[in-house]
Amino acid sequence: MTERLAADTAGLSRAAELLRSGGLVAFGTETVYGLGGDATDPLAVAQIFEAKNRPHFNPLISHFADAESAFENVVADERARALAVRFWPGPLTLVLPRRVDGRICDLATAGLPTAAVRVPAQEATLTLLRAVGRPVAAPSANRSGAVSPSDGGHVMDGLGGRIAAVLDTGPCRVGVESTVLDLSGSAAILLRPGAVTAEDIEAVIGPLTWPAHDSVSGALPGPGMLKSHYAPRLPVRLDASTVADDEALLAFGLPLQGGRLVWNLSEAGRLDEAASRLFAGLRALDYEGALLGLRGIAVQPVPGNGLAVAIRDRLSRAAAPRPGSGFASGNESDIPGEGQSPPRLQRNIA
Ligand code: TXA
Ligand code: MG
Repeated sequence: MTERLAADTAGLSRAAELLRSGGLVAFGTETVYGLGGDATDPLAVAQIFEAKNRPHFNPLISHFADAESAFENVVADERARALAVRFWPGPLTLVLPRRVDGRICDLATAGLPTAAVRVPAQEATLTLLRAVGRPVAAPSANRSGAVSPSDGGHVMDGLGGRIAAVLDTGPCRVGVESTVLDLSGSAAILLRPGAVTAEDIEAVIGPLTWPAHDSVSGALPGPGMLKSHYAPRLPVRLDASTVADDEALLAFGLPLQGGRLVWNLSEAGRLDEAASRLFAGLRALDYEGALLGLRGIAVQPVPGNGLAVAIRDRLSRAAAPRPGSGFASGNESDIPGEGQSPPRLQRNIA
């Protein structure tokens, strides 16, 4: 049984007790829900990989209540310190060289000489991290390869029964995962776009380097930058200018005519609203679309810079060819099953 904890004094103290004794607790952050475990305890970290069915070569982000505790575990240069002052708590993850006296275990960093650290902007979760008093490893709280969870119900759908507890901190404000910036070398490399944009970072530390995609495999240089990710079961078709009768529509702004099932990311064309509704929309269209026998999800273009870059990154991963044969195989998505409540879909059925 997975306990559902409210983000009150009793819930926070229970969550801290579970984490300190090696249990797994999912909690909200401003980006998505994380599946937390004590990053100093290899057994707890092994259970995170197990619960998510995540490949062990893909390292985890360690979460801290403040920059000072984070920098006890990694070597922070001037760039890292300046970014921490400007953006923490907030949706920015820094990849930095590990300190020899750091407490993050090897399994959490997949044996790399670097570690990813961040201070999330979620009050209750910061209180929890303070109470735990140790680095807390937390990948997104979904099965590996599936759509990230942006509320407590999403976590239960994917991991209910597999983890000790979910601390329900409500829906995530931002909705897409943190920006990941590699500062372990002299070049600052943007490994994953997020709500802290390239322009935001460049305003503090100067020009960034974007990682080169492998032109043949599409693979990215980051250990976990898998091209197919965030994948719903229905195939995803990007930049749609029309929608077929047997497709669901993920709209942005003025919706296309047609489509039996529509989820509008933002009628007003707002990027912050679109990011916060992205994963819930993919889940809802996938679930309801499958029930209605639809054959895919058509996605309207999301143009622009800033947060639009992060939204397009997640959408292109959702649309990328899946590992293995066929669309659905090789993708351990959190398939909705018996006893699970359907996600709330803003029905807009044509
Ligand atoms: O917003 C977020 O970042 C959420 C919340 C829970 O904090 N977490 C999250 O974790 O998205 P995850 O594990 O789903 O994504 C972390 C990414 C992975 O792509 C991983 O490969 C990369 O960060 N990463 C972690 N440690 C790294 C390292 N030492 N070097 C390069 N990339 C690293
Ligand atoms: Mg993830």
